Order: sequence, then C-alpha cells, then structure tokens
Amino acid sequence: MKKNSLFRLSLANTSSKRLSIWLYGNCFLLLCTLVLGGITRLSGAGLSIVEWDPILGIFPPIFLEQWHAVFDLYKGTPEFQKINFMMTLGDFKVIFWLEYFHRLLGRLLGFAFIVPGIIFWMKGYLYPSLKKSFVMITLLGLLQGLMGWYMVKSGLVKDPHVSHFRLAAHLLLALTIYAWILWEAFALTFHRQPDYYVERTFRLILVFLLGVITYGAFVAGLKAGLIYNTFPLMDGEWVPMHIFNLSHERYFVYDPANVQFIHRYLAMALTLWIVLSSLYYIKEVEDSHLKKAFWALQGLVLLQFFLGVMTLIFAVPISLGCLHQVGAVALLSGVLYILHYTSLGKRFVDKNLIIKHIDIKSAQEFLSKMRV
Ligand code: HEM
Repeated sequence: MKKNSLFRLSLANTSSKRLSIWLYGNCFLLLCTLVLGGITRLSGAGLSIVEWDPILGIFPPIFLEQWHAVFDLYKGTPEFQKINFMMTLGDFKVIFWLEYFHRLLGRLLGFAFIVPGIIFWMKGYLYPSLKKSFVMITLLGLLQGLMGWYMVKSGLVKDPHVSHFRLAAHLLLALTIYAWILWEAFALTFHRQPDYYVERTFRLILVFLLGVITYGAFVAGLKAGLIYNTFPLMDGEWVPMHIFNLSHERYFVYDPANVQFIHRYLAMALTLWIVLSSLYYIKEVEDSHLKKAFWALQGLVLLQFFLGVMTLIFAVPISLGCLHQVGAVALLSGVLYILHYTSLGKRFVDKNLIIKHIDIKSAQEFLSKMRV
C-alpha cells in the first residue's frame, strides 16, 4: 500500500477556515447538548416540562404564579403521582432547570448552525455538496426537536418512563447529525490517503458500532445498568440463567437483563475487532499518520470499554454515565476519522473553493495498481 500524493490537496484559505470553525464548533455544541441530555436523564429530570413550545418555550417562568402554573402541570403527570408526590416547588425548580437548559442548548445549536450557514451560503462559501448537507442537516435537526418531544411524551401517559426505543432513536439521530457535520469538517481540514481495504473494514466496524450504541441506549432506557452490577460474570455466570427462561424473541429488546447481556457481549466483540484489525493494519500500512490513528483508536476503544465496566460496577453514577456517553462519541469520531482518511472522496475543494471532481473508477484502478 503506497502513498498517493494525487489525493493530497491542501486547504488554507480564510473561507475554509471559517467553515471549519463553524462545523467543529457545532460538533462541540452538539456534544455539550448530548451530555446535558444525559445528565438530565440520569437526574430523573427529563419529564419535568410537560409542554413543547419551540418558540415561547425559550422563556422560563419568572414570577411565583408562573412557577406554580408549570408545577401544577407537572403534578398531573404519572411521574409526580407515582414517584415524586413528596416534591416541593423548590425541588421541582432543580429538575425544571436541567430540562430547560437541555432544550435551550438544543435551540442554540440550531441557531448556531442555521444562521452562519445562511450567511456562508449568501457569501458563496458553500460548495454544492456542502449546500446539500446544510439543508439535510437542518431538516434532521428539526426532526430531532420533534423526536425529543415524541420521546418525552411517551413518559407522560401511564408509565413514568420514556420508551427505550424512542430514547435510542433520539440518541441515534443526534449521533447522525454529529457524524454528518464532523464528516464535512474533516473534508475541509484533512487530507485523504485512500485505502480500499481499510475503508471496507471500517465501514463494517461503523455499522457494528452503531449496533453497540443502539443496545447501549436500550440499556440506558430500560435502566438495565442497575442490575447485574458485576463484570465479567453476571450473577456468577457467563450467561445468566434468567435469559434461558425467556420464551419470546421480543425479550431481545424488552428484557433488561437480556439487553444488558447483549450490550456487553457486543461491546466485547467490537473492542476485540477494533484492537485486532488495528494491530493488523499497523503492520500492513506504510502511512505513519494512519498507524498513529490506529494506535489512538485502540486507546479509545479500550478506554470506552473500561468506562462501560466502571459505569456498570458502580450502578450508573451520573459522572460515569456521562463519561461513557462521551466515550461513545469519541469512539465514533475516531472510526469516522479513519474512514474519512482512507476513503476516496467524491470531491475536493482547492484554494479558491473550486470543486474538483475525481473520476472514482479511474482513481480506483490507479490505486489498485499502486498496491503491493
Ligand atoms: C466499548 C464499546 C461500548 C460502546 C460504544 C458503548 C456505548 C454505550 C452507549 C452509547 C450507551 C448509552 C448512553 C446514554 O444514552 O446515555 C451505553 C450505555 C451503557 N453501557 Fe455501554 N458501551 C460500550 C461498552 C460497554 C461495556 C463493556 C459495558 C459494561 C460491561 C457497558 C455498560 C453500559 C451501561 C451500564 C450503560 C447504561 C448507562 C446509563 O444508564 O446511562 N458498556 N453504552
């Protein structure tokens, strides 16, 4: 596998720098919103605001009567009636502010993405594919707002818990938006060194990682981190007896013990896969930058594994729960980086922001000739 300098194009003008700051800044804001969402959920504050008003919801209650009005609405929810019936207005304010700031940050994120995006568009900074991504990400962002409300609604009806499927959809949508923005940012800031084999492996790893993340969200949604708090054994066994007693296949996604079992074993497989394939490619590839990226990715996956085990053993304290969530985002970013670095981009932006389309087929033929 040899280097192909044909694909090394550098971007160093002001407009691409501004675009990168915009895109990376939004990734950072999204991560903060995600973490605050995690803190809100783990503090049991996620169901405190029972209405969704995208515009007027920006204004929090100020006067005592306003506070009583929102508290009265909360008193009508199953969460208050079944769990928090002893709660005072003072206690309510704490959970209200957490949920309020999570929603506020979500709105701020929308603003920080859309407003500069429109300005850059008008100034002619956005190249065609970035324009498409901008529109699509904006639509996904709006959908995410709706999804968040759809998730909260599921906990306001009979049972004071949100649906773990909706929680997973909310998390996956957030990660899709994050990944898309990050990909566009990578395209502006990093070179590519196409390698078909690495790319193929990491496409599969990405899909598998999304599976692990989905089951992680199920664990979180079903509060399955509060049972079987031992590792590697579950209640003294590799496969807990309880799982064998389940008769219906739907328990693969409903039963907390089973869901935790699947998450930990999928995570083990993923960790092993990333470590072994990274070690293999470190020997195979010549590109020293890629080698370093593989070492870093191994560190990330091992750290994430460790954080998962600690989160479980200590029965999900807020700090570890959030670190484990951040670890998942870091791991996703690492996998995306390697995928981006080794994939053949459809377009490159040169110094004057002129799009150069590369003929993929001939580039692939060229690369396969270069391969030893
Ligand atoms: C190494 C790959 C792993 C990845 C990518 C991963 C990813 C995730 C994600 C995305 C969540 C949902 C977080 C949230 O929505 O707040 C989660 C939850 C969880 N994971 Fe993992 N995980 C991994 C490994 C592990 C391991 C090895 C364990 C334990 C043996 C574990 C235990 C847990 C627990 C207990 C939760 C629930 C936390 C909560 O209730 O907030 N994870 N994981």
